[in-house]
Amino acid sequence: MAASTVPREQLLTPDFYQYCWTPISHASHHDRFTTISWSDGTTLRAFDLWLRENAVGEGGVDVATREGLLDPADLSDEITVTDVAVTGDGALSVTFAPSATVALYHPGWLRHVADGEHRPQSWLPEPTNWTPDSLAQPPTHDGSVVLENAQVFSGWLNDLLRYGLSRLRSCPTSEVFNKELADRIGAIRDTNFGTLWDVKADVALAGTADTNSTANTNLRLGPHTDLPTRETPPGFQFLHCLENQAGGGLSTMADGASVVDALASEFPHHYEALSTLNWIFFNRGPGIDHRWSGPFIDHGVAGAPLTIRAFYPVRAFPDMAAEDQPRAYAAMRCFSQMAASERFQISYPFEPGDLVAFDNRRILHGRSAFESGGKRHLRGMYIDQDEVRSTARVLNRQLSSTKPPTTTNRS
Ligand SMILES: [Fe+2]
Repeated sequence: MAASTVPREQLLTPDFYQYCWTPISHASHHDRFTTISWSDGTTLRAFDLWLRENAVGEGGVDVATREGLLDPADLSDEITVTDVAVTGDGALSVTFAPSATVALYHPGWLRHVADGEHRPQSWLPEPTNWTPDSLAQPPTHDGSVVLENAQVFSGWLNDLLRYGLSRLRSCPTSEVFNKELADRIGAIRDTNFGTLWDVKADVALAGTADTNSTANTNLRLGPHTDLPTRETPPGFQFLHCLENQAGGGLSTMADGASVVDALASEFPHHYEALSTLNWIFFNRGPGIDHRWSGPFIDHGVAGAPLTIRAFYPVRAFPDMAAEDQPRAYAAMRCFSQMAASERFQISYPFEPGDLVAFDNRRILHGRSAFESGGKRHLRGMYIDQDEVRSTARVLNRQLSSTKPPTTTNRS
């Protein structure tokens, strides 16, 4: 073992988190890899150049920004590890040639890589599919304290990531409450509706309102996702109820991930049609021309969130061979009937002070028709996946000193 020249509390890591000190028991080097071992049998194989890139303050990671400094063009094979050792208190010491640089690595930081806690899904809850049998109403949290109470805030965000749906009740009915939440989460996704937009229904004026959206009428809205006209549709939608005197107009929601799974097992030919045949979606407003072509069910690249492109008011053209169109329509009909059925869909009223957040690309949302007069006013905004996930990771790491929520019951 080598003597450590840096006290453990001063040993920097390539990020700004605090790591538990988990002493390394053994380190050895062979054929350009260092094998790092802990006493419980956990091991990590670290490539020479990756270790060099992560040497904090030794030309690998900048101390101020904790960002990497080395251009890949400069990472030549002449950079090699000439010695590895475990310091007296269990850190890793690595000597590099030809510079003779000696770098020390925090064992807790290395251990979090060995445990897979550096992956995008770590520190986030495991997505859980639901139906009305398992989730009859949106999971609900206390909106009156959400801005001040980190436990309530993280609980609300974790349910949003887990179920794709999470409600706050007893929120202030201020017109800027959505903005105050966004200030805690991240940038609002702007669209042709603006950053904060209103969904207003006045049943007495139905059919005559000057509106740019079917949402602002008294009509039923079938299960859908917003803005499939974009390369990446908005990640999450936040609907805050300021006023509701109208009868009917219940919110409807279904877990698109559950519908997709059921479709794939029960109607594989429909699943194949919806996941491979493209449609062109088109926002045809004055002065805008947003279009995107994609499948109804879009799994994207490995690890990407599910994207369901389902909004018939803006589905404009089949982007497929003519002979594929009959089966494309039959598959959409089947999917939409399943999404609107009691097997998959829940419904609930909006009360003033409610704020319902949902995954716009996973959850199929809609509204029953209004039945009696009165005003309803919702304020909405979109925030993308990256912002919500970043905020949830930070909160979960701050609030959980040992394990991520994927291994903890946070119901
Ligand atoms: Fe919508």
